[in-house]
Amino acid sequence: MTESDYELVRVASGAWSVRARVEGETFHPVIGPTAEAEALYVRQMRIPERVASAQAEFVVWDVGLGAAANVLTVLRALESTEGHVRIESFDHTPAPLRFALTESVRLGYLVGFEEPVRSLLGEGEVRFHVGKCQVTWRFHEADFPAWLGSTSTREVPGPEAILFDAFSPARNPAMWTLGIFRGLRERIPAGAGGTLATYSRSTLLRVTLLLAGFRVGAGQATGEKEETTLAAADPGQIERPLDAAWLQRAIRSTSAEPLHEPVYRQRPLSEESRRALEAHPQFQ
Ligand SMILES: C[S@@+](CC[C@H](N)C(=O)[O-])C[C@H]1O[C@@H](n2cnc3c(N)ncnc32)[C@H](O)[C@@H]1O
Repeated sequence: MTESDYELVRVASGAWSVRARVEGETFHPVIGPTAEAEALYVRQMRIPERVASAQAEFVVWDVGLGAAANVLTVLRALESTEGHVRIESFDHTPAPLRFALTESVRLGYLVGFEEPVRSLLGEGEVRFHVGKCQVTWRFHEADFPAWLGSTSTREVPGPEAILFDAFSPARNPAMWTLGIFRGLRERIPAGAGGTLATYSRSTLLRVTLLLAGFRVGAGQATGEKEETTLAAADPGQIERPLDAAWLQRAIRSTSAEPLHEPVYRQRPLSEESRRALEAHPQFQ
């Protein structure tokens, strides 16, 4: 992938967003990068409050760094927070971020962060301050499914918050398998109250998260979507847990079975998945 594989598009709100030509996907459609990231990650996962009350550094995994709108929106929201945040970003290419740097003025959210972004791209790691908040930001350039299944994952501190922003399951099925979410769930440190937010509200995704061992709830509207998804290791983090009525709809759905392989398929629940869902502590 190179910078010419990306372009800027104006979305319905009037904001500019990056679009990947090859995949044909706009990174933040409809309401634009900043508004989406604020609703989906900053407010929904209460990141400033959690950074402020963390005893040590607060670890965020940014899955799908792309053009860094999510990370930079999170960092801007930490300007008046005293604390230490560690961001571990993952992408198989730095090209969208390189492209975004050339368009920082129109994108807006990058303005003021050009220097740390250049260091991140050059050295793979950068340390700086946003107000009183100390930031350590690393970029892991790798195929995420392969990385998550490798021993290198143990060298990276486990996440307390996960910004999960891959392309859609139909275009990017390797990022949405049951194995990926099991791997993520395993890496959340015990007792840390870890959470994961993502833009999808599909039954298939929610079943996948439940079977991976998360508690799962309806997430906040973003302006683009009337509902998103919030998952957590502990039930206390979920305000609006999926309930028995949701479970009955999932059992009747024609697209609920998790992806077991990196191939997009829509299928009703298998007998085994249905039994595992019904036995999930969330529905007891
Ligand atoms: C929707 S974009 C992310 C947008 C980004 N979060 C932002 O705020 O600008 C999805 C990203 O996932 C990355 N991606 C897709 N497949 C991947 C894979 N197998 N491993 C790692 N990254 C992948 C793409 O390169 C792309 O940058």
